[in-house]
Amino acid sequence: MRKIHLIVGARPNFMKMAPLYKEFAKYPGQFEVKLIHTGQHYDERMSKFFFDDLKMPQPDEYLEVGSGTHGKQTAKIMERYEKVILENKPDLVIVAGDVNSTAACAIDAVKLHIPVAHLEAGLRSNNRNMPEEINRILTDAISDYLLTPSIDGDENLIKEGIPEEKIFFVGNIMIDSLINHQQEARNSKILEISGIEKNFALITLHRPSNVDNEKGLLTILKAFQKISKKIKLVFPIHPRTAKQIKNFELQKMVDDMQNLFLIEPVGYFDFLKLQMEAKFILTDSGGIQEESTYFGVPCLTLRPQTERPITIWEGTNQLVKLRTADIIRAADQILLGNIKKGKIPKFWDGKTAQRIVNIFLTRDF
Ligand code: UD1
Ligand code: UDP
Repeated sequence: MRKIHLIVGARPNFMKMAPLYKEFAKYPGQFEVKLIHTGQHYDERMSKFFFDDLKMPQPDEYLEVGSGTHGKQTAKIMERYEKVILENKPDLVIVAGDVNSTAACAIDAVKLHIPVAHLEAGLRSNNRNMPEEINRILTDAISDYLLTPSIDGDENLIKEGIPEEKIFFVGNIMIDSLINHQQEARNSKILEISGIEKNFALITLHRPSNVDNEKGLLTILKAFQKISKKIKLVFPIHPRTAKQIKNFELQKMVDDMQNLFLIEPVGYFDFLKLQMEAKFILTDSGGIQEESTYFGVPCLTLRPQTERPITIWEGTNQLVKLRTADIIRAADQILLGNIKKGKIPKFWDGKTAQRIVNIFLTRDF
């Protein structure tokens, strides 16, 4: 029996680990899987909602690290997870994505000589000002199994000198979750409950580079002011952004936008429903660039570059510069019907968890 730890911590981790948890559970004689939640995200709407929607059991360990500076949060995770490893002695640790919990737990495991698998390996924005880019580079450099979502991931890793035998192109695990829960998402009543109905654009925003400085945030909000005159905007607001809007005293500006529906973060099914029904999406999220490509919904990404370029090469994503006029122009183009068509990238097919578990069924670790 091989013991595996699956690490979750922040919102985008839950939908990446759920399909893997369920796939490993099909082999009870072979794997004993424990779910470890660092507590990086802790609000009901940033964590519990996803356990409920994805029908995940309570985590086996909850480290309760909470929020803090990068140093504080990373250190707390490392200190607390190290204890869990020493007590529980896993044979493999699987981390996902690029959040602080990902890098912190990977470092703990590797230093205790436990092999690490990185789910969503190889993505690069080539912008080291993003904390996530540092987490990606660190985690990939020390992982033993690099599980990539798209072929550009393999290319990036090879360029960085990672041996080919460590790299496995398995596909996009987020799309497994999306496919598994498409029907529940269709049945969501979020549009009726929030009084949104049809004809809206969907917004999410939480990158420090967009929301942690007043000028940047104001640039974006001014664009929303203009766009909201032409189409309803639905904005489930991330707690970081809600906090910054208050800090910069921009709450009145937001409240005065009559066509802007500011709502709390919503659960997974509700958010998928909002994406499916949106005319277009304005975001700086990583995962939403991918989900919108799957749904074929135009996505305007408010960032200078993306670690998910396949969503631009093949999907419906497009980058937009952080200038009010550029954001308005990009939205106008879509409203005029100039819509970018896309296709679904290879191995974004709902079978990624299966491909991953097959790797571990056929290997000693
Ligand atoms: C984190 C990840 C980011 C990911 C995002 C997904 C890192 C470095 N960043 O960013 O890559 O895209 O999660 O949503 O790991 N807060 C709450 N309640 C919560 C969680 C956070 O109120 O449950 C507030 C706190 O004020 C906190 C702030 O949000 O200080 C930021 O949280 P943090 O986890 O540090 O970063 P995110 O911006 O959420
Ligand atoms: N999401 C959600 N509710 C929301 C906003 C996002 O369920 O109110 C989901 C979304 O469908 C995707 C994931 O959260 O699966 C993306 O997480 P986020 O944007 O927080 O992180 P990132 O992908 O940028 O790291």
